[in-house]
Amino acid sequence: MERIVDAENLAKIKREIASLPEIYGKVMVMYYLDELSIAEIAKRLNIPENRVKQRLFAAREKIRKEVFKVSENQQNQQKQINKAKQAMQDPKLYDLWFNFMYGYGYDEDYGNQQEDVNLLLSLIGNGQKNILEACCGTGRVLVPLAEAGHNMTGFDCQVGMLACLYEKAKRLVNAKYYYADAIKSDWGSNFDVVIIACNTIQNIDEPVIISDSEEYKEAQKTFISKSAKALKQGGHLFFTFDLHANPQEYWNCAPSEEYFIDTANIDMSHENPDIFGVRSRSVSGGYQYDAKTQIAHGIYRRITLFPKGERNVSDDPWYQRLLTLGEVHEWLADSGFEIEQEYNGYHKEPIKENQFNNVVIWARKI
Ligand SMILES: C[S@@+](CC[C@H](N)C(=O)[O-])C[C@H]1O[C@@H](n2cnc3c(N)ncnc32)[C@H](O)[C@@H]1O
Repeated sequence: MERIVDAENLAKIKREIASLPEIYGKVMVMYYLDELSIAEIAKRLNIPENRVKQRLFAAREKIRKEVFKVSENQQNQQKQINKAKQAMQDPKLYDLWFNFMYGYGYDEDYGNQQEDVNLLLSLIGNGQKNILEACCGTGRVLVPLAEAGHNMTGFDCQVGMLACLYEKAKRLVNAKYYYADAIKSDWGSNFDVVIIACNTIQNIDEPVIISDSEEYKEAQKTFISKSAKALKQGGHLFFTFDLHANPQEYWNCAPSEEYFIDTANIDMSHENPDIFGVRSRSVSGGYQYDAKTQIAHGIYRRITLFPKGERNVSDDPWYQRLLTLGEVHEWLADSGFEIEQEYNGYHKEPIKENQFNNVVIWARKI
């Protein structure tokens, strides 16, 4: 437990501390309410530092059980996780299985990426902040920020992603997260920082895939305007997106040959089984980019072999609407933002013309 608590829980915690046996209550008061260090407490009580830590640990466990009982939301999520676990072995429940595995797969590919988290921590600076992460996924960003002591709130619309977050964050009392669609939901208000990380604004694809370019553009603008509404005055938006110098060249390519082969009989024995014994393979179905609509799209064909030998072949289309730096600047200004810092990548490189940029923006709500 960090030395921070949700305001509405503070009164409950104080009551719980008062009901603890005195030796535990004393260290809790000194540590959490008087904010003394472990060394100072040890000196005052004339006991070794380790004993202070043991007492804090025991007291925290008791309080955690009483105060932070599993919320209804988390119980529902647990039910969905259990349902998804059953689905892993059943090809009829392919979508559920895939959704769940998506979160695991995401963390395998991106879970260790920390550069953006480090940059964020340095931009956020000292002091505990109230932070919202829109489309928080598996908590790749949300969890380390909560561990650094910030009050984190996140939402996402994929159960599989949230299931992974649930596993990682269930012990963090300062991490809240919920299921929501970014476009339809209210993002809340009064946050110090809003985060839209990892090119999410070009990958808005749930719960309904958006293929219409005007609708996509409106959704992207909505992300910016909702960020502004969710922030307090003077608060900051951190957001990142890919800026392709030559999208036409990058995205226009023919489907791979593999896409046309006999997917019903393809040999899957070389694919490593996942933790549930399911083997799967994805092949790309040719990307296209339309400069007029700024829409890039393609198809992922996924071949899945379940442990009992059943196969599933599914084609999933995806759409991205690529952004221009100009329109992003315009939307930020329209929503009342002032760009304080803008980089290419997480090491504060300047934006370069005519090449790919991983744009990082840190903008203040004025
Ligand atoms: C590229 S992942 C990024 C996850 C996380 N922010 C990170 O940096 O690791 C994009 C996330 O956006 C979520 N997402 C996409 N469209 C959404 C929408 N309309 N509402 C809520 N979440 C959405 C997806 O479910 C996915 O978890």
